[in-house]
Amino acid sequence: MAEHPAYPVGLRLAGRRVVVLGGGQVAQRRLPALIAAGADVLLVSPEATPSVEAMADTGEITWERRRYADGDLADAWYALIATDDAGANQAASAEAERHRVWCVRSDDADQATAWTPATGHSEGVTVAVLTTDARGRDPRHTAAVRDAVVEGLRDGTLVAPHHRTRTPGVALVGGGPGDPDLITVRGRRLLAEADVVIADRLGPRDLLAELPPHVEVIDAAKIPYGRFMAQEAINNALIEHARQGRSVVRLKGGDPFVFGRGMEEAQALAEAGIPCTVVPGISSSISVPGAAGIPVTHRGVAHEFTVVSGHVAPDDERSLVDWPSLAGLTGTLVILMGVDKIGQIAETLVAHGKSPDTPVALVQEGTTAAQRRVDATLATVAGTVVAEEVRPPAVIVVGNVVGVGPAATRNPR
Ligand SMILES: C[S@@+](CC[C@H](N)C(=O)[O-])C[C@H]1O[C@@H](n2cnc3c(N)ncnc32)[C@H](O)[C@@H]1O
Repeated sequence: MAEHPAYPVGLRLAGRRVVVLGGGQVAQRRLPALIAAGADVLLVSPEATPSVEAMADTGEITWERRRYADGDLADAWYALIATDDAGANQAASAEAERHRVWCVRSDDADQATAWTPATGHSEGVTVAVLTTDARGRDPRHTAAVRDAVVEGLRDGTLVAPHHRTRTPGVALVGGGPGDPDLITVRGRRLLAEADVVIADRLGPRDLLAELPPHVEVIDAAKIPYGRFMAQEAINNALIEHARQGRSVVRLKGGDPFVFGRGMEEAQALAEAGIPCTVVPGISSSISVPGAAGIPVTHRGVAHEFTVVSGHVAPDDERSLVDWPSLAGLTGTLVILMGVDKIGQIAETLVAHGKSPDTPVALVQEGTTAAQRRVDATLATVAGTVVAEEVRPPAVIVVGNVVGVGPAATRNPR
C-alpha cells in the first residue's frame, strides 16, 4: 500500500457517524474540523482533555466514557483511532477494515487506510496537502507547504485570480505609508487580481514592480486633465476602465479617507453606478511617527492626538483648521503636508500660548529605506527645516510624546 500515493478526496460528513477513539491531544486537534463538517461524532474514551470535554458538554459531540469495544465502528463512515493502547488501536483498525470504514491512525500511518492532510482555508477554498507516500511522510513539510500556499493566497503573492467571484468595479485600496509589507492582506490580494492599477506617488510603489506584465499601471499624477480638474480626470479614468469590465485598483498612500480624497472618488463611482470596495490602509499619521520611535499617545503624557493638514498657512482664508484652539490642547498634534508652512504654523501655535520649547519631530519618507527623523522645538523648527533640507513627504509631530521613546528607537533605519 505504501508504494502508491494516497487518493485525495473531500469527505462530506454532515449528519454521518464518525467514531473517534481516544480523547487526548490528537482528538482535540482533529475534532473542530469534524464538527465544522457537520459530522455526527461519537467519542469513545475513558478520559478526555478539558477542551474535548467542553465539546461534549456543549453537545457538539457525543462522549461515551469507556474503552473501545468490538462493534463500535459498525455504523461509522469514518474513524479516527488515537488511543494510547496499542492493542485497542490494532483491534479497532482490524474492525474498520472488516466494515470497510476509512480510518486514520495516529500511532501508525502505514497501517491507516486514510491520512489527514494539512489543511488551511482562504477565500472560499480549502487547501489540503498530503505527502505522496507513507515512507516519506514529513508532517512539518506538508504543514509548511500548506502555510506557504494559504499565506500566498491571502497576501496576493500567490496569484490565483477569482473567475466567478472577482471583485467587480473599483477597489479604493489604502496602500499604507510606503513599506510594501504595510499594505493589508486584502489590499494585496486585490492588487494581485487587478487588470488596471491607478497609483499615487506616495504609498507602496515597490509593489507595482511585482505585478504581472499584463497589468496596466497608471501614474495618477500623469493622467492628462485638460478641461477637468486633476481629481475629475482621475475619477473619469476609474469609471472608464471599470466600464470596460476591468478590475481596477486605485492604490492610495496611507488610508484612502485620511486626506486622500477617497470619498470624492467613491462618490463619483456611485454616481456612475460603478461598484466600489474600500480597503482601509495604515495611515502615515500614526505609523510614520511610530516607525521613528514616537507613540502618538503615551500614558501620563498625551491622552489625545489630533491629525491636521498643514497644506495651507494658518492665515489663509481657505484653512479649515482652528490653530488657536489647537494651541490650547495638551495632547499630540500630528501635521501632514506641513513642511512648507511649518514656520507659520509654529509661530501661530506659540502666539496662542503653546510653549516655544514644545518638542517637534519631522519624519521624512517614513517606513521606507530613506526614512529620516529630524528633531527641533517650536522655536527652532523653521530654521531646522531649512538647515536640514527636510522635504515632503514628512509627518510632523508636535508635543511631549516626541521625547518619550528610548534613544535607540529614534532612528531605527
Ligand atoms: C495627501 S496626504 C495623504 C495621507 C495618506 N492618505 C495617509 O493616510 O497617510 C500626504 C501626506 O501624508 C504624509 N505622508 C504620507 N506618507 C508618508 C511617509 N511615508 N513619510 C512621511 N510622511 C508621509 C505627508 O505629510 C504627506 O505630505
